[in-house]
Amino acid sequence: MSALTHIHKITLIPGDGIGPEVAAAMVSVVEAAGKLTGCAFEWHSFECGAEAYEKNGEILPQAALDSIAADKVAIKGPTATPIGGGFSSINVAMRKKFDLYNNFRPVKSLPGIKTNYPGIDMIIFRENTEDLYAGLEVMINPDIAQSLKIITRKGSTRIARSAFEYAKKHGRKKIHAIHKANIMKKSDGLFLECCKAVAAEYPEITYAEHIVDNTCMQLVMNPYQYDVILTENLYGDILSDLCSGLIGGLGLVPGANLGADTAIFEAVHGSAPDIAGQDKANPTALIQSAVLMLHHIDEAEAANKLQAAVEKVYAEGKSTTRDVGGSVGTKAFTEAVIAAL
Ligand code: NAI
Repeated sequence: MSALTHIHKITLIPGDGIGPEVAAAMVSVVEAAGKLTGCAFEWHSFECGAEAYEKNGEILPQAALDSIAADKVAIKGPTATPIGGGFSSINVAMRKKFDLYNNFRPVKSLPGIKTNYPGIDMIIFRENTEDLYAGLEVMINPDIAQSLKIITRKGSTRIARSAFEYAKKHGRKKIHAIHKANIMKKSDGLFLECCKAVAAEYPEITYAEHIVDNTCMQLVMNPYQYDVILTENLYGDILSDLCSGLIGGLGLVPGANLGADTAIFEAVHGSAPDIAGQDKANPTALIQSAVLMLHHIDEAEAANKLQAAVEKVYAEGKSTTRDVGGSVGTKAFTEAVIAAL
């Protein structure tokens, strides 16, 4: 390693279920790409999530939060959240703590995967701190539960601005704001009002509005009409999984949670307990999240080399995982990406 090698400090949260397997795969391919391009990484790893809670009695240790605050960049595997009762999502907690308001999720087809929709290339901008995810829930009485949906002018305007700025910079032509303002006239109405106001500042970008239920149908009938999707927290979460199905599944779609000065990168998928610990997980989504991270830390060469290696493995089609019709495990796929590098 040359004296000029830049060492990036990155907080790593391997997470639950398949998290440690896909995180190990991601670290090894990022290290390999870094060696080729003259950058190195100091990983600050923390156990967080359901398994950490069982082991150490802590879901999200303060030390992990301090590390993210210091490093400003983190990458995490999925963390499990109990359904119904139990502790609240640490993802939601981290997004709120670091004000990571922009959940950026590119959905792009990879070569060699057979799907009904070749050549998909769209981006989802999901507001990441408000909506029903604010977690403001109460039992009014034993038979009535109330969950508050919070939409603010500030939150809606800044996610709209992120989407339009990105579109302008990257030559994207069309933005659809996805909503349910026919029913939620105040909250989704405010979201649309803010999107419209921002859109007016970017006349070169076509702006349209679709109701979320119609959008689900449109996405499976003709996904190609969408370029950039701009939406609230809950709709964005659901549409991300739907869109991942268009290109071959949850094993493929990366993501970034972006704030003004901190970024946490993570795949769209969850901890996949059904395949955990069996060398079956597809690490592509987290690897592609790492590609986004490498761009974020200005290591474009490493990012491009790693993305090209992933695409080469898919184009060859010999070393892909079972979820996309292949036959190899997590480790063999990872070795194939390193060989392609
Ligand atoms: P999931 O995304 O974990 O799994 C859904 C289906 O996709 C399963 O059949 C699984 O095997 C498959 N799958 C997901 N990722 C895959 C991969 N990389 N390779 C191959 N197959 C993959 O969703 P589910 O079952 O709804 O959630 C499980 C847990 O994950 C829950 O506790 C949930 O709260 C948590 N979760 C965490 C997220 C995060 O940390 N960002 C995001 C979504 C869910």
